[in-house]
Amino acid sequence: MNYDLTEIKTFAKNCLDGDITGHDYFHVDRVAQIAARLYSVDHPERDAHTVFIIQIASYLHDTIDEKITDNVEQRLAKIHHLATIQALSDEDQNNIFDTIQNMSFSKNIEHHHQLSLEGQYVQDADRIEALGAIGIARAFAYGGKHDNPIYDPRIPVTKLTSHDQYRTKQETTINHFYEKLFTLEDLMNTPSGKAMAHKRTQVMRNFVDEFLAEWNLED
Ligand code: ADP
Ligand code: NI
Repeated sequence: MNYDLTEIKTFAKNCLDGDITGHDYFHVDRVAQIAARLYSVDHPERDAHTVFIIQIASYLHDTIDEKITDNVEQRLAKIHHLATIQALSDEDQNNIFDTIQNMSFSKNIEHHHQLSLEGQYVQDADRIEALGAIGIARAFAYGGKHDNPIYDPRIPVTKLTSHDQYRTKQETTINHFYEKLFTLEDLMNTPSGKAMAHKRTQVMRNFVDEFLAEWNLED
């Protein structure tokens, strides 16, 4: 088996080039590194093949997102082609496709999809990227691009109930912290992912506390 990621990385770079909402190549590169690190902490024996599958799924995970492309089918076909070049087994290919097609937060609002071990590390790393200082920056970049206000105390925080509602609902970016970001810590799959998410959630809670104190002139 050839563990070369060059073709996969080049494909991801081409797909994500120009994104300004935090789904750029730097994001997937960090997801690959975080996911491999979390897996290595929990599994010190560190199976090289498992790490390779984790890395491939990490680099590919946002390339087929409907936010990033209008042509998901074409992207899937290209990934099939890459997987063939890479000589991945059917089992590995199924694992990678199942992961990248089912790991998103929005896909799991209505039904929980059970991911493979590799998928669980990629999903945890992607969630960690929505937390902490980077998560704060990404949330406001996303909110700005989608014309959402930073905050409006008249718009209530509500519970998310469906994929469509998540994608279409008018909300403030501060509400997004309560509706999604503060819930992620409890959704983590892996022990090392949970620990890292806890630390980064704390950073975000401190930020929102400070934001609201300043908003209400209480600081
Ligand atoms: P997933 O790919 O898991 O479905 P998203 O693509 O919805 O997750 O989220 C990716 C990034 O965009 C995250 O950092 C997330 O916090 C941010 N984001 C998504 N929706 C919003 C929103 N309504 N307001 C602010 N940030 C958002
Ligand atoms: Ni992502």
